[in-house]
Amino acid sequence: MLTSSGQAAITAALFVLAGSGDKIVSTASIYGGTRILFGRSFKRMGIDVDYVWDLYSDAEWDAAITPETKAIYAETLPNPLNDITDLRKVSEVAKRHNLPLIVDNTVGTPALVLTGQLGADIIVHSTTKFMTGHGTAVGGAVVDMGTYDWANSKRSYPLIQTAPAGKRTQIERFGNRAYASAVREAVVNDIGFAVSPLTGFLIHQGLETLSLRMQRNTESSLEIARWLEEQPEVTAVAYAGLESNPYHSLALRDYPRGTGSVFGVEIKHGKKGVRELVNNLTLWSHMTGIGDTRSMVIHPRTSTHMSFDEETNERLGISEGLLRLSVGLETTADLIKDFRTGLDAVAKIG
Ligand SMILES: Cc1ncc(COP(=O)(O)O)c(C=O)c1O
Repeated sequence: MLTSSGQAAITAALFVLAGSGDKIVSTASIYGGTRILFGRSFKRMGIDVDYVWDLYSDAEWDAAITPETKAIYAETLPNPLNDITDLRKVSEVAKRHNLPLIVDNTVGTPALVLTGQLGADIIVHSTTKFMTGHGTAVGGAVVDMGTYDWANSKRSYPLIQTAPAGKRTQIERFGNRAYASAVREAVVNDIGFAVSPLTGFLIHQGLETLSLRMQRNTESSLEIARWLEEQPEVTAVAYAGLESNPYHSLALRDYPRGTGSVFGVEIKHGKKGVRELVNNLTLWSHMTGIGDTRSMVIHPRTSTHMSFDEETNERLGISEGLLRLSVGLETTADLIKDFRTGLDAVAKIG
């Protein structure tokens, strides 16, 4: 089901399952905009989102999940730290609690990871990013894998399981496509999250080259990440494709085609270092977007994560010196050369 934006896809995917008084449990490392959506608009609609910080702590999951919980939410490759979510583990928890698992695969895309095979029941995308691929259209998608058994669930999902007197339920009408149908009828149609025809066309066109673009920007990212690790002005590189990264074994297990092209790099001298670097880049654009043909950088602490308090940012690993990279399709050597020019300016800080 296509939607008018990635935010609309996330809202539609969850809103069909949860209403006022219900809860969602999410992994803590998710896109900043989603965290804001959950903390502001979802809260106003009476839907609480609780976070689990340690995926491997069953006690933390079990404490967070209550009878009101309607879904578990996670991302494949959270941005900006490329800190892969172990979806096999999260899916195990979801199954144990008889909950559907909803996964945002915007950064991974199906070209790198088939999220359904890792246990996702429902997948959401911001097609604004890699799927359209050229920064030309805002859109989103909700994908129903048809794997969650709504009919025999211990949880209640009125929009899917019940119908007005004399009418058939979504399950009776559509079987294992009941969820997708409910998203279309009860959310996209009612609220107006529909995709525009032109955006639908642009997504379709973008998908034709998705695998090629993902292969190229992922290969380029690994080369750039390896180079960055060697630079004296760089204090850390958060890219799971690197052998030194704590998520590398997960990358080898679940991401044989690589861990994408969105990752973080920590620059010496904190915010001052980042400012010098960014002001001296010419090929990399200073933009909030990701997943474009063009390479982009942004300082999360003063953009995507600026509304969070100090403690939350520290806990999420969003340091003052962190810069997010989204690697595009330019020649890798040119990107490295341009970045080196920026780092030369950082070196002059002393
Ligand atoms: C992982 C992720 N999900 C969802 C979104 C929201 O998408 P949109 O900008 O299409 O609303 C973004 C945007 O950056 C994102 O990075």
